[in-house]
Amino acid sequence: MDIASRPSEPVADTQLADAPPPPAAPQVIRREDYQAPAWLVPEIALDFRLGLSATHVIARLSVTRNPAGNGTPTLRLNGDQIAALAVRVDGEAVNDWRMDGPDLLIDLTGDAHAIEVETALNPAANSQLMGLYASNGMLCTQCEAEGFRRITFFPDRPDVLSTYSVRMSGDKALFPVLLSNGNCTETGEGPDGSHWAQWHDPWPKPCYLFALVAGDLVANHAQFTTMNGRAVDLNIWTRAEDKDRTGHAMASLINSMKWDEEAFGREYDLDLFNVVAVSDFNMGAMENKGLNVFNTRYVLADPETATDGDYDAVEGVIGHEYFHNWSGNRITCRDWFQLSLKEGFTVLRDQLFSAAMGSEAVKRIEDVRVLRGAQFPEDSGPLAHPIRPDSYQEISNFYTATVYNKGAEVIRMMRTMAGAETFRKGTDLYFDRHDGEAATCEDFVRAIEDGTGLDLGQFRLWYGQAGTPQVTVELRHEDGAAVLELAQQVPATPGQPDKQPMPIPLRLALFDRATATHRVEELVVLDQARQTVRFDGWAEPPVLSINRGFSAPVQIEAQRDPADLVFLAAHDDDPFARYEAMQSLVVGHLVGIVGGRLDAAAQDRGRAAIGEAFGAILADDALDDLMRGELMILPSETYLAEQLLVADPLAIHAQREALKAWLGREHGAALEALHDRVRAVPYGRDAAARGARKLKTQALIYLASADAVGTAPRARAQYDAADNMTDRQGALMVLCGLDVPERAAALDDFHTRYAGNALVIDKWFSLQAGSLHKDVLEHVKALANHPDFTMSNPNRVRALYMAMAVNPKAFHAAGGEGYRIIGEVIRKLDPINPQTAARFVPSLGRWRRVDAARGALMVEELKAIAAEPTLSRDVREQVTKSLG
Ligand code: ARG
Ligand code: ZN
Repeated sequence: MDIASRPSEPVADTQLADAPPPPAAPQVIRREDYQAPAWLVPEIALDFRLGLSATHVIARLSVTRNPAGNGTPTLRLNGDQIAALAVRVDGEAVNDWRMDGPDLLIDLTGDAHAIEVETALNPAANSQLMGLYASNGMLCTQCEAEGFRRITFFPDRPDVLSTYSVRMSGDKALFPVLLSNGNCTETGEGPDGSHWAQWHDPWPKPCYLFALVAGDLVANHAQFTTMNGRAVDLNIWTRAEDKDRTGHAMASLINSMKWDEEAFGREYDLDLFNVVAVSDFNMGAMENKGLNVFNTRYVLADPETATDGDYDAVEGVIGHEYFHNWSGNRITCRDWFQLSLKEGFTVLRDQLFSAAMGSEAVKRIEDVRVLRGAQFPEDSGPLAHPIRPDSYQEISNFYTATVYNKGAEVIRMMRTMAGAETFRKGTDLYFDRHDGEAATCEDFVRAIEDGTGLDLGQFRLWYGQAGTPQVTVELRHEDGAAVLELAQQVPATPGQPDKQPMPIPLRLALFDRATATHRVEELVVLDQARQTVRFDGWAEPPVLSINRGFSAPVQIEAQRDPADLVFLAAHDDDPFARYEAMQSLVVGHLVGIVGGRLDAAAQDRGRAAIGEAFGAILADDALDDLMRGELMILPSETYLAEQLLVADPLAIHAQREALKAWLGREHGAALEALHDRVRAVPYGRDAAARGARKLKTQALIYLASADAVGTAPRARAQYDAADNMTDRQGALMVLCGLDVPERAAALDDFHTRYAGNALVIDKWFSLQAGSLHKDVLEHVKALANHPDFTMSNPNRVRALYMAMAVNPKAFHAAGGEGYRIIGEVIRKLDPINPQTAARFVPSLGRWRRVDAARGALMVEELKAIAAEPTLSRDVREQVTKSLG
């Protein structure tokens, strides 16, 4: 259904006809207000009579008074857009229950009761994709964070853990497969072509980990034998036509299970592990106990339709959700302020896993690129929050790069300071001490302290202070010594004007220029505002390599001699530092030009230094191609803009493009030779073949930038010769940015070739919306009316509009057209899917960081959204904070 083309239809969730209007003043939930639950629910039995547009639910809760609670006789069961058809207490129908807004309250007399509540749902009308919803003819659930309350009334908070028994019945032809958490204990036939299944999960869990799936699915099946010899059945469920694209996901799952045993001593704890691929999904995937539900894009992969990047994403997300079984499920969160307890830790675990499966160096570079591209801007904008937030209005807005990726960096720093082996003692203690509990970040830190012997007293500031620390570095040479002056400053963020110095572990090395090797390598922990470190025995000034491996998630400010950076880009033995030297060289040059701080001579010198380093990277035989590809990538426009207080995004764009074109011209012959070499390498999944593919497109990017017309045939040839999506998408991406006849022909071919494959058609949309083409906004507007476009599928919406929102040339186009397009998307999408709509707000929230004229246009758009008569809590919170 194409909702976008029929805007007048009521598309909002119509489960409850007379939903009360939203309260005027937004409710703010505060971390310091935490109270233990008054009532516990040790057991729950759910009975679903399934139908796509009518599902009936009976929930039977055994409730007991929590001795640690406040003693209230009132049981509060959360609800959201549902109505109670019947309420029974201890088997008796009662009518003295009452509603408090969306919640159902019952006054109870004793300490233990049996509560029964009936609800009716319309999954087909659930366009928010939270709770129980229909996708492609199947039924599935998403309950994290607060979706369970859209299914039945329940104390929907992660510190209420219950044992689940689930019975499902439904039409056998529509829903031949019936899945829930744990193990299937019984199945049977019912009347009129129906059937049923009974599931039981032995592990108590919070309701956000509940899941149900019913549909016409087939499984790729395999077995895994755990370290203690237990056999686990593994199934990856998809629609029949997708089954042969699940091999990589299955291999990744098996690798994850093995790796978690070896790296963290974690064994799987059920006899069955199910993964289901769903095409309508708000996020990446969900770690429901024993029944992970995935966005199809993180399950399906084959060489023809998935790029190497897609393969990596599948591996990473499969690992991530699997690792949650311990970091998230066996030990869950006490409340949602502790989200980073499971997410930060699990991201670190998936990063380490992916590093172990492939190139550690390349993985680290990619992770830092994500952090700088997504988290640094968050940390320096109006939505900045600590990895453990202090308050929220809508928790869905806090599934952020800060909670996830900075959260992972914070735990990684503990690991760096302890050393990997000692750190493992800390995590062993954590898993052991808190197994079965709903824990806090503080519990985690204390377990790491107790297990490793580290003193993390001051380090806890990383959980509470938002903002990316700025570290200034100065290396002096005096009296045969190298003297390092370090200083830190944590910038003010909303609600946090004053900050304290934090412990910042900086791995550093000093290089001898003559031998190009380092004599000193150590970890310096900067934990004061200013610190001096002296290194004796340097007759000549050394070259400093600092924050090696990106040991701390900080911004380093150093006045670097370009010659030193060229030296490090060629000789640093830390691969990340080598990459970083190249990045710094380019950042210094481009930011210097855009900021008007470089005269013509300095610009020429800087460019020559970059050209020299770039040439050395192309020529260095000791580099593997994957790493060479990384070193060739210029810093993103977002990251460049981040270096300036106020930036003209189009000036940054123009200067970066000019540098690319210059490098393409300067090194044209070498780039052509490189392209010729790597295009002779046959397809394979090995690192060498992957490196070749990466370089193929990198070379094209520079060549096309230097000479569009001359390079188009080369790009088209790569497109035509491609026997895999990496080469084909890379060539199409380059062609998409060029004003050449080859462009339309290739786009048409791509669309025809992959008609019906939703994930590949998503690429077709995002390549055009993310392109460098001068008419990109016209293309976006036309694509919004393409028959393949729909507002009801989050992947498709993101493919078109997120690609555009992160494309500075499109988003920041003169006149504010890009802002208006995104503003309209937010307004149109909010009634359909508020969670996904809210994800577009931060792009407009960056208005303080662009020139005043642009900023005013962005504010205008935010105000137009704020003026809507009805807005979701999700969008309301993000817009209000962005304007504030
Ligand atoms: N816990 C999931 C993951 O990180 C994400 C679920 C987020 N869902 C949401 N509705 N915000 O793997
Ligand atoms: Zn997660």
